[in-house]
Amino acid sequence: MKRFLDLADLGREEVIALLELARRLTRSPEPHALSGKILGLLFLNPSLRTLASFQAGMARLGGTSFVITPGQGTWQLETKRGAVMDGAAAEHVREGIPVLASYCDALGIRAFADGKDLGADLAETRFNAMAGLVDKPLINLESAVNHPCQALADWKTMDEVGVPRDGRFVLSWAYHPRPLPLAVPAAALHMAALRGMQVVVLRPEGFALPKALMDKARRAAELSGGSVRETDERNEALSGAHIIYAKEWSATSCYGDAEADAALRARLAGWCVRNDWFARAAADCRLMHCLPVRRNVAVADEVLDSGRSIVQLEAYNRLTAQMAVLYRLLKGI
Ligand code: CP
Repeated sequence: MKRFLDLADLGREEVIALLELARRLTRSPEPHALSGKILGLLFLNPSLRTLASFQAGMARLGGTSFVITPGQGTWQLETKRGAVMDGAAAEHVREGIPVLASYCDALGIRAFADGKDLGADLAETRFNAMAGLVDKPLINLESAVNHPCQALADWKTMDEVGVPRDGRFVLSWAYHPRPLPLAVPAAALHMAALRGMQVVVLRPEGFALPKALMDKARRAAELSGGSVRETDERNEALSGAHIIYAKEWSATSCYGDAEADAALRARLAGWCVRNDWFARAAADCRLMHCLPVRRNVAVADEVLDSGRSIVQLEAYNRLTAQMAVLYRLLKGI
């Protein structure tokens, strides 16, 4: 494995093998496996879990890491091609990224969507421009429409709590005061389809996931025996659910138009996951969310503090799943 950018690049059997490696590294730790190896982490956007879990994972495998957060102690980086750099950014990624890559054995990059042009974000224009500058193993730490590290950890988490491979996975839009990127819903949708689940995307009018993302998930479902559909009928969607995966995302009917998005979401504060969402679900239905989550806005205390919530295990599995990714990328086996 040379790059970890998208679960779709791996396929189902390779994902399952990667998760088996993650379990092996938990059962039989290898504290010197990556001795002498250095991971570079470039965060163009904030993080808690991704940053801490990659640093901890490298340390647990005997390697080390450095973190660059442009504009906070390091030069602010320009990402746009052809930019006239007479503003705050002192350095362009075209110089900065090859320099960083030359210092390390693998590089991770987090670069969220611009959130203005849906076509450009779906094409991963910003992330791909940077990926093209890296000649080392590369990890996607969250791009415009992907978060493969989160998806891998989520798959592992469902395995660990016994969610059936063909169970019902409801990816539900949840309220947030601002438009958020499509990366996590896109990655969760594809992951659940690839796992072979019966996937239902539950969202209000105006928030349908783009056709390109639904088509990609349908292709994965065809290969794995799963299914993918979309609805705005909450009771019907949640009936028999094994997982309610709550996530906030932008209005796609007016992508990039902040005013129109705000007008649409103003009526949707009721999309906060509460106990009554589980009334028709499977008895052992669990709540997933990638975190960070706004309590009593996206998900109520009564759910997050209940036995249904597996958000802490999801976050912990960022560490265990990513250790397998690092091992594959840096040991090459
Ligand atoms: N879920 C996730 O990626 O968390 P961070 O944004 O804190 O890294």
